[in-house]
Amino acid sequence: MDSFDSVRAIRWQGDRLHLLDQRVLPHQQVDCVCCHADEVVTAIRDMVVRGAPAIGVAAAFGVVLAAQACHDTACIHAAIECLAESRPTAVNLFWALQRMRAVLDAGGDALRLEQEALAIYTEDVAANRRMGELGAALIEPGEMKQGLAVLTHCNTGSLATAGYGTALGVIRSAYAQQRITHVFADETRPWLQGARLTAWELQQDGIPLTLICEGAAASLLRTGQVGWVIVGADRITANGDTANKIGTYGLAILARQHGVKFMVVAPSTTFDLSLAHGGLIPIETRPMSEVTSLAGVPIAPAGVAAWNPSFDVTPADLIDAIVTERGVIMQPTTEQVRMLLG
Ligand code: MRU
Repeated sequence: MDSFDSVRAIRWQGDRLHLLDQRVLPHQQVDCVCCHADEVVTAIRDMVVRGAPAIGVAAAFGVVLAAQACHDTACIHAAIECLAESRPTAVNLFWALQRMRAVLDAGGDALRLEQEALAIYTEDVAANRRMGELGAALIEPGEMKQGLAVLTHCNTGSLATAGYGTALGVIRSAYAQQRITHVFADETRPWLQGARLTAWELQQDGIPLTLICEGAAASLLRTGQVGWVIVGADRITANGDTANKIGTYGLAILARQHGVKFMVVAPSTTFDLSLAHGGLIPIETRPMSEVTSLAGVPIAPAGVAAWNPSFDVTPADLIDAIVTERGVIMQPTTEQVRMLLG
């Protein structure tokens, strides 16, 4: 691995899946080891592994574990169904499981399924590297008034993918090419992917970062230091509407208000062309306790209600560029998406 790219969170060991446990980062670096498909289901549901592409990759290896444990096709199909129920929004999960199902339906055995899962892993890293190049090329250093900074949300890096990252991959490439000199990261309430994961991941690679709470984003954009807001995606519909971590939609509105450009970075596996618009995307709602407590410590009065949607939808007309490994869509529309990916 070259500079600015040292982290890997998913490691396949032939008969077990090592997942860097993202619930305890940054203060502990421990692996959760999955030997059975149902352990992968639990790992995805409980956020040991998270991020759209990473969930798909982990689920593919979950299918391999199922095939190694039972040679009965019906039992492997049952495991695929369980994996599909782990989380609802990121379409990469269903895409990866469909790819594994096709191998199974074609008579593939455990060895063949393992090859497919490894291919999904390798292709994801390659796609991220390509998107890194394409996205970085959009960033003109001269367009930023001071500080050459970008703002990102959630964690979209090596922790959220097979490696390198989507939005964070663009940031890695742009930093390596000296197109940017600084990264601002939202802490990303309530699960703190920005504070716990993005901050840790960028520190590992020596990329300078300043953490902000989401409430500071408007003031930050007003300073003129930030040229682009760069985010990932969990599902992009046929018209370019984009589901991503809750808070992304608000950032897109803030970016437009302040004349800052807004970039979505996602592989073609994140597109769901069967859905016409973002209103049709199933949005995961997570437990109230994630909002009413912090690291297991209550922060709100007992019994108070909370609303905890995990994702929101940014309308395509607030997006300046969608970067995929197949090319870039500027000012996305249904027609543009169809031309690139249809
Ligand atoms: O709930 P999470 O942590 O799985 O949400 C992750 C995100 O929203 C990411 O921005 C998205 O999956 C893109 S990751 C490359």
